[in-house]
Amino acid sequence: MSTYHIKHLEEYYKVYRKSVREPEVFWEEIAEEHFTWHKKWDNVLEWDFKKPEIKWYQGAKLNITENCIDRHLRTKGSKTAILFEPNNPDEQAEHITYNQLYERVNRFANVLKNEGIKKGDRVCIYLPMIPELALSVLACARIGAIHSVVFAGFSATALSTRINDSDCKIVITSDGSYRGNKTIDLKEIVDEALNDCPGVNSVLVAKRINSEVTMKKSRDKWLQPLLDNASIECEPEIMDAEDPLFILYTSGSTGKPKGMVHTTAGYMVYTAYTFKNVFNYKDNDIYWCTADIGWITGHSYIVYGPLANGATTVMFEGVPSYPDFGRFWEIVEKHKITQFYTAPTAIRALAKENLDYINKYDLSSLKVLGSVGEPINEEAWHWYNDNIGKKKSPIVDTWWQTETGGILISPLPYITPTIPTFASLPLPGIQPCLMDEKGEEITANQIDGRLCIKYPWPSIARTIWGNHQRYKETYFSAYEDKYFTGDGALRDTVGYYRITGRVDDVIIVSGHNLGTAPIEDAINEHPAVAESAVVGFPHDIKGNALYGYVILKETGEGRLHDNLRKEINQMITEHIGSIAKLNKIQFTTGLPKTRSGKIMRRILRKIACNETDNLGDTSTLLNPEVVQEIIDNAL
Ligand code: WTA
Repeated sequence: MSTYHIKHLEEYYKVYRKSVREPEVFWEEIAEEHFTWHKKWDNVLEWDFKKPEIKWYQGAKLNITENCIDRHLRTKGSKTAILFEPNNPDEQAEHITYNQLYERVNRFANVLKNEGIKKGDRVCIYLPMIPELALSVLACARIGAIHSVVFAGFSATALSTRINDSDCKIVITSDGSYRGNKTIDLKEIVDEALNDCPGVNSVLVAKRINSEVTMKKSRDKWLQPLLDNASIECEPEIMDAEDPLFILYTSGSTGKPKGMVHTTAGYMVYTAYTFKNVFNYKDNDIYWCTADIGWITGHSYIVYGPLANGATTVMFEGVPSYPDFGRFWEIVEKHKITQFYTAPTAIRALAKENLDYINKYDLSSLKVLGSVGEPINEEAWHWYNDNIGKKKSPIVDTWWQTETGGILISPLPYITPTIPTFASLPLPGIQPCLMDEKGEEITANQIDGRLCIKYPWPSIARTIWGNHQRYKETYFSAYEDKYFTGDGALRDTVGYYRITGRVDDVIIVSGHNLGTAPIEDAINEHPAVAESAVVGFPHDIKGNALYGYVILKETGEGRLHDNLRKEINQMITEHIGSIAKLNKIQFTTGLPKTRSGKIMRRILRKIACNETDNLGDTSTLLNPEVVQEIIDNAL
């Protein structure tokens, strides 16, 4: 008998040891006892990190939506599956029961079928946080189409790059979206993107803001009438365990975004198991994760993990500051939220506001608080613990990545004693290790190293869409036979992990991963720019902000520089999205380079962080003189 729900610390250690000693037995028992299969697997795991190739539950047949919807109907048909809380608090929240979810997903799936979408086709979803987003994700999974959700804050160029990279046939979008007191015309962005996407011949448009939009004949269709006319029955497509479920793009330190491919069975088992344990989910709980489904957190812990457990999962359309900074807490009180999962950047922003915004509301329903996306600093941790959890709700600081599919390191609430800034212990099945610069495993404690994972877990991404070589180079080449996370970490004497941050050129700004290379590419598109380098520096709300060093083709003065700064940020907004705008732009005549011509970002980072006392040896640079100039003009 397996332990699906761990209840105390001793049991955690016991389960953990078993998961390391007999990983296949461990994951087999969980899969066997808690999910619906059309056919069981022939093999629990086949793997080779050298190729790399990872296969879980080979030979099994299933459909993930049967596990997330159909099997709950008998006992939980009238339970709320998705609780939609609109941007405007005066608009009614919508409760979608499991029965309704079944019908609505099936209708949507039939609409996709009628559009000619088949198993294996890629479907791009570019929607705000409205029910159609979750429904379209599940509708794809119902018919075996591979969804590629693009966060609706990305620009037209970012959208078209993603559509083309995975050759999507169809785009699902809306007329627009609400964001606080603003509206955004999403359909216009899609139209612009599709000028560069010859492979898309169908666009389905949900109505949300009732704005005037131009519908391109024979390509664009309003979604609602199609749904109204579709059947509420749709036989699930029976999938192989390793059939792709979705693609989700994440930034790399260089090159274009990486389309991480997640497959069906392992992803389902792992997200369901970790959801249950990390959030200690119990039957009548109302769970709320504030992330957007455009990111992995939303995929795994708004949609799949909660629904696979028959949970009630909240989808919030709005922002924490609208109509005022009390909105999150108003929602907690209104829906009696039991688990609340958010990002450190939101916590820091809210911590700047008056406590009256919190104290007006009854937060006594809360039992578990979660944090994800970046390291949570001690001050934010205490603020969250004191004011939101009232020192009664444990904080689960969950460490994971788009690539890992699910949470890998996290406390279990009411079980693992928490320490601020420590993500603490690996979940069952996860074998982390720290590596030093020479490629040796660090066995001692209290030393910083590079965080790797030694053994596969069911929800690890299997490849990068269209580029397996890049998958191998990025994750499996730095250290032999290990998955390299790109993060640094420290392990304390009891084995707790503390994640210290990225060790590559990915910068996390407000919880969003941004690669420096695409931002620099966008800046360099500006006709006046010769070269640029972007680094991160600490910011009290965003965690990190971006500092750009820019060499102009011709030097200009004062006012001209201010205009250029605006234009450069405009360029970034167009190419990536406003999330990647630079906070500071310094014009310079040169960038410090090694003799082989590589920009020394380490030096630029120190200058941006105002840590110029200890720049190290700069004499071996190609152009050491430029360092002083940059220091003198630092912003
Ligand atoms: C960072 C988000 C510290 C980390 C789920 C990782 C964290 C990157 C934490 C992945 C945490 C995520 N503590 N750092 N609890 N959670 N990170 O792909 O650098 O958007 O590599 O996935 O976020 O970001 P991604």
